[in-house]
Amino acid sequence: MSDEPLTIRSLAIEVDRSEGLRTGLEHAIRTAIRGGRLMPGSAMPSTRAAATDLGCSRATVVAAFEQLQAEGYLLARQGVATVVADVRSARSPHPSPGPRVETPTIRADFRPGEPDGSSFPRQKWLASTRRVLAKLEDDRLGYPDPRGTAELRAVLADYLARSRALEVGARSVRVTAGFASAIGFVGEALTQMGHESIAVEDPALPITRDVLGLTGLEVVPIPVDRDGLDIAALEASKSRAVVVTPGHQYPLGVVMSPDRRAALVDWADRVDGWIVEDDYDGEFRYDRQPIGSLQGIAPERVIYAGTASKALVPGIRLGWLVAPAAFRRPLDAVRHIRATTSSLEQLAFADLIERGEFERHLRKVRATYRQRRQSLADALHPITGIRVPSEQAGLHLTCALPDSIDEAALIEAAAERGVGLVGLHPHWADPIRPTSSGLVLGFTRPPVHRFDHDLSLLVKTLRDLV
Ligand SMILES: Cc1ncc(COP(=O)(O)O)c(C=O)c1O
Repeated sequence: MSDEPLTIRSLAIEVDRSEGLRTGLEHAIRTAIRGGRLMPGSAMPSTRAAATDLGCSRATVVAAFEQLQAEGYLLARQGVATVVADVRSARSPHPSPGPRVETPTIRADFRPGEPDGSSFPRQKWLASTRRVLAKLEDDRLGYPDPRGTAELRAVLADYLARSRALEVGARSVRVTAGFASAIGFVGEALTQMGHESIAVEDPALPITRDVLGLTGLEVVPIPVDRDGLDIAALEASKSRAVVVTPGHQYPLGVVMSPDRRAALVDWADRVDGWIVEDDYDGEFRYDRQPIGSLQGIAPERVIYAGTASKALVPGIRLGWLVAPAAFRRPLDAVRHIRATTSSLEQLAFADLIERGEFERHLRKVRATYRQRRQSLADALHPITGIRVPSEQAGLHLTCALPDSIDEAALIEAAAERGVGLVGLHPHWADPIRPTSSGLVLGFTRPPVHRFDHDLSLLVKTLRDLV
């Protein structure tokens, strides 16, 4: 008998006979079911047909099928074909979650937070990875410097000074696994330094509040108006640290006015405090030059946080902090070795920036997103009851809803129609008694070829529901 694996044609699976045909057949079928190649409910060939395919006795196939029935992979019923069982539900080690709730399929995704995945510069990233790997010494594959690789820190310092007007050198840069990781370490460092609370804009990204809360800090919400953070409310809070999004308030979209910026820095000087600047989408400004960072005017008071999640994709988990000298020691103490991110990704990213490919990519997506934002705003304007903001920036557009509209009900009804939306309520510190209702519409998720189609579906849905 040959040692070559045989194929059961009807199943398109390969049977390795090296440990005996019956064992090989069982193994092949188990693997195909676990991997999803044989779907629950699909029929198996008869034992007779399978035996002919394999050139073995029917008894061998019957024995294998019976074993798989006993293990719960196959279901045999009198008079009908043996079928593939649903192993995931039958064999789950977890208790049953109860009746299955059908979640509607999102066809037109206008939830904020993620850029269009199809825009990721795969070829350029691949070329950078290849280039970096080809010349990387073996010892660079050991544990990376927890502060980040020297190459990326240097390249980022240069890029941030040039594009975001930061006052920065490589020594003040720390590479992080995105903002979510960065804000956690900032919170831990503040706790170690004796801070008991931290002020956060209200509304804000819920994750910011959640992560800071997990570090043990009390999170104090501070209102935002059309000029940005309410400084008087900040003064009254007694916190000596605050998180702000001055370039493009998340989620309301306002830019912090020059007066407020000056007052905020003044506050930090007076209370000997810290300002955490979350510059999550600083690269995306469409109507004027990007607004320079707050860090540039107060580098000793501002802990600056940036991310590649909007400019590239969130999946690469790369972000950065620029920390003043006095904050670096406590920060490094809590980050230590557990803060490292893959040195290969860091080096590839450094190469991408150094070669100008990152900024070329940004120019390209900026042009696309600018158009999308305009199309979305134009499409929303005629809908009675929806107020569209004038701020032309970022990857989302937050529009106010009339008081008569139940935000949660609207989102649920839109989901039933396949339209993915996120409301303003979860962004308020008190989502039960939200200050106002609205939609935080992300316009970057639909792939390029589907954008117009998805936008029409959104508009129709809103016309019907608002
Ligand atoms: C306000 C804000 N900050 C930061 C981020 C980025 O977070 P991360 O870098 O963890 O992906 C986002 C992403 O949605 C955001 O909306």
